[in-house]
Parts: sequence; C-alpha cells; structure tokens
Amino acid sequence: MSKVNLTINGQKISVPAGTTILEAARQQGIDIPTLCYDPELPPNGACRICVVEVEKAKNLVASCVTPVIEGMVVYTESERVVSARKNVLSLMIANHPLECITCERTGNCKLQDYCYRYGISESEFVGEVKKLAPDDTNPFFIRDMNKCILCGICVGKCQEIVGAGAIDFINRGFDTIVAPPYRDPIENSSCVFCGMCVDSCPVGALIPKAGLGQGRPWEIEKIKTICPYCGTGCSVYLHVKNGKIIDASPDPDSPVNRGHLCTKGRFGWDYIQSEDRLTKPLLKKEGVFVEVEWDEALDFVAEKLSTIKENYSADAIAALSSAKASNEDNYLIQKMMRSIGTNNIDHCARL
Ligand code: SF4
Ligand code: SF4
Ligand code: SF4
Ligand code: FES
Repeated sequence: MSKVNLTINGQKISVPAGTTILEAARQQGIDIPTLCYDPELPPNGACRICVVEVEKAKNLVASCVTPVIEGMVVYTESERVVSARKNVLSLMIANHPLECITCERTGNCKLQDYCYRYGISESEFVGEVKKLAPDDTNPFFIRDMNKCILCGICVGKCQEIVGAGAIDFINRGFDTIVAPPYRDPIENSSCVFCGMCVDSCPVGALIPKAGLGQGRPWEIEKIKTICPYCGTGCSVYLHVKNGKIIDASPDPDSPVNRGHLCTKGRFGWDYIQSEDRLTKPLLKKEGVFVEVEWDEALDFVAEKLSTIKENYSADAIAALSSAKASNEDNYLIQKMMRSIGTNNIDHCARL
C-alpha cells in the first residue's frame, strides 16, 4: 500500500494512503477529541469537535472524515482549533441539563471530559431547552433524550451492527431526537435489548437501570469473565462494588464478541446474587428436601450410581451437562462419565 507523508504538530509521519487525519494522529498518541466517531461505524462527521487546522486550507476540517494527503501540515490544538471546539461545546451544553452532580455518567462522560479540558462551565448561548419525559418503560435502561447530543452512534450500532433498526433520528432542527418509530416507547419497538447503544453512548442519555445510584465509575472494579448463558462464550466485565455486582459491560478486545453482548449477557446477570440460589446441596428425606453437607450429598450420589451400574450396567447412567458451566467443568463431567464406563453425555448448547 502506498504511503503518505505529513506533519502533525511538528512531527513528521508516514501513514498508508486512505488513513484519516484522526487515525494518523492517534497512531502518534495525539489525542483529538471525538464525540460522534466510532471505529466500528462509517464516520458521519456530525459533531465537529474533532476539527483540526490544515495549512493552506480555508476552513478547519473534521479530522474523522478527512483523509491525509501528501505534504499535509496539521495542527490539532491551535488557537483556532481550540476556539472552534469551545464553540461546539458551548452550543451543546446550551441545550443540555448540566446535572453532572447526580448524573450516572459523571466520570465517564465525554461531554463532561471535554468541557473540563477546554474550561467550559456554562454556555454563552441562551435559548430554548428540551424538556422531554425520559423513556423508562423497559426493565433494562432509561432513555433520556434531554441529554442526547445527537452523535448518531446508537443509531449506527443498532442499524449496522445489531441489525435491529429500533431507533433513528426523527423530526428536524431543534426538535430532532433519536427515538423508535412514531416515538413509541422502546419496549414496543424492534429493540432486542442488547444494550449496545447504552454502552456506546458518549454521554448520560442511555443509562442501565440496575446500577442506578449504586456507584461512581472510579469506585467500581471491573472483573473480566465469560458469559455462562450459551456456548458462544462472550467475554464480559462484571462491575463490582463492595463485593456486589451492579452492572456488566462487553469486552471490546474479545475476539469472540468484540464489544457486543446479547440481552442475556448484558442484563441477565442478576441471578448470580439471587437469594433463591442454592448454596448447599439438598437431599430429599421422607419426602422433604433438607440441606446437607457436601460429603453426605456426594456419598449419596456415589452410592446410587454404583448401585445402578451394578444392577443395570453403566449404560443405564447418563449425564446432561450445561452451557452455563465452564468448558473446564464440562470437560470434567465427560471425564467422570467415561470413568463410570458410559458415553451417555449430552449438553444443552447442542440445541
Ligand atoms: S451527560 Fe455528561 S455532561 Fe451531561 S449531565 Fe451527565 S455527566 Fe454531565
Ligand atoms: S438495545 Fe440494542 S436493539 Fe435496542 S436500541 Fe439499543 S442497540 Fe438497538
Ligand atoms: S443517545 Fe447517546 S449515542 Fe444516541 S445519539 Fe444520543 S448521545 Fe449519541
Ligand atoms: S468526531 Fe469528527 S465530526 Fe464528530
């Protein structure tokens, strides 16, 4: 592939033709802010926070949609650039409830981060503000379009990657919002509640319900594990505070699910902490289940299996394993069955 030589902030670099200015800068560790850019989606150039100055160009250019050209000289934090970014932020927060004190996304919000970076604490523009009722009709997440900055990432993810097409831009100008068809509640749309929009939103417009008020991002430990629901084995982070799971998110680096989960992996983890879960073996005694110690339960099972094998042969025994167990656990159950002397093993992932 042919290479293009350019200069960014005085650094001479060479990148493959077709690379955008944003990608070239990021390869050099130069941080250009972005709000509507997502590497999984075609760039839409909607937010203009990523503008940079290019020598000899009349206007600032959006770095996420502009390919590099030979000899280009780029400045990513010049006075003009900073002033334009301040303007963009000021316009955004003119119609944005600045509820950072209580907002669930404080500490994990790009709008907040960039306002901090460029010293914007209030808007210089005064005008009408949206006052829309949040949609919390579903059990999984709240959609608060008052905080939406219309970046379009959720729309792109839902249409291009999930294929659900549950949401899109509706109306025009000031009245533009992202919503399901006819502004119906999301529950009545084709949404499959995968949560991809929630995890991609750069601000606090889409908030998972389970973690509401449970903890700030810096208080949460993210523990990587494997979703136990099916044989795909998606990689998932459980968000844990004080030993309690309060949310989950997909692992963007996993080669299996590459930052995506289905509704079960994303929102269906509450059973882990259910008080209804068995924590000790139960043995039926005189028609009633009673809690027993593991030794007693295992002795009972071993004795029953031996009796069945003795009386009816090992092939009278079968094991049904589970996709909810790990590969290692499933390996062990087949090992155990083969040591009993049977090949009768099955597994629900086969469905
Ligand atoms: S979305 Fe971001 S900027 Fe808006 S209130 Fe929440 S933390 Fe603050
Ligand atoms: S949860 Fe998934 S399907 Fe539903 S709107 Fe978001 S991305 Fe689309
Ligand atoms: S809801 Fe979030 S991801 Fe969707 S357009 Fe608004 S700010 Fe962007
Ligand atoms: S990140 Fe480039 S226009 Fe939004």
